[in-house]
Amino acid sequence: MPDGQIIVTGASRGIGAAIVSELTARDYKVVGLSRSGDVPSGQGIACDMTNETAVCETLAKIASKGAIAGLINNAGLHLSSPSAGLDTDEYEKVMGLNATSVMVAAREVYPFLRDNGGGLIVNIGSFFDKLGVAENLAYCASKAAVGAMTRCLAVEWAGDDIRVLNIAPGYIETDLNRDYLAKPQINAWMKKNIPTGGPGAPEQVARLIGAVMSEDLSFLTGETIYLDGGQGMNL
Ligand SMILES: NC(=O)c1ccc[n+]([C@@H]2O[C@H](COP(=O)([O-])OP(=O)(O)OC[C@H]3O[C@@H](n4cnc5c(N)ncnc54)[C@H](OP(=O)(O)O)[C@@H]3O)[C@@H](O)[C@H]2O)c1
Repeated sequence: MPDGQIIVTGASRGIGAAIVSELTARDYKVVGLSRSGDVPSGQGIACDMTNETAVCETLAKIASKGAIAGLINNAGLHLSSPSAGLDTDEYEKVMGLNATSVMVAAREVYPFLRDNGGGLIVNIGSFFDKLGVAENLAYCASKAAVGAMTRCLAVEWAGDDIRVLNIAPGYIETDLNRDYLAKPQINAWMKKNIPTGGPGAPEQVARLIGAVMSEDLSFLTGETIYLDGGQGMNL
């Protein structure tokens, strides 16, 4: 992979913050994005990923400071609602951040990666992309879209030495679900249904990204890699 900055979206907390720490520890030059610009362990820039103009300007600003070698599309949100009453605005909010912003960020970073001789885009999907989860239509659809976009971009940009991967976690304890996972009934359900014994930690996702980035894996592209303790294949 060429040298250059790695951009991590949704870097203020949870999985994104762990990715920034892991890549920084591996000596990558990391720039973290979040709406506030706060990034606990590294350089942060404020950028709302649903604001297309802000995304274009922010990527151009980062590129003006040096080459870009990678993008981790991690920013995401989870909303649940019974499908029979699913509000269109709520559906579009989830699709807007979880799916559309992934396409916009990839499209906008593409010329910078190409001009730097290639690079790696890692999208953070979810194991919900292949499951039927009650009251999760928008979230599941958005993550299935991430898998589809990953495959299309991987095929289209392989000739530019740009690889695109979708890392799809299972339950990872973060602000996104901490209250939910703390309920005793849910906790017991997780222990029973996740073969490895419970939810994972953000550091696990970060370590996988660090490993994929550090190893020479030029034949690996377009894939969805599940990191879910075996839950998605557990009957
Ligand atoms: N936790 C899980 O169990 C789990 C499982 C599978 C997949 N995932 C996926 O992993 C990713 C990270 O999840 P997480 O659990 O770490 O979530 P989290 O703790 O809720 O953090 C979400 C991050 O996204 C940022 N963000 C939210 N809206 C944004 C916007 N409009 N523009 C820019 N940044 C925005 C937040 O930053 P600010 O609020 O500071 O802007 C924050 O850094 C998401 O894509 C999620 O779907 C999570």
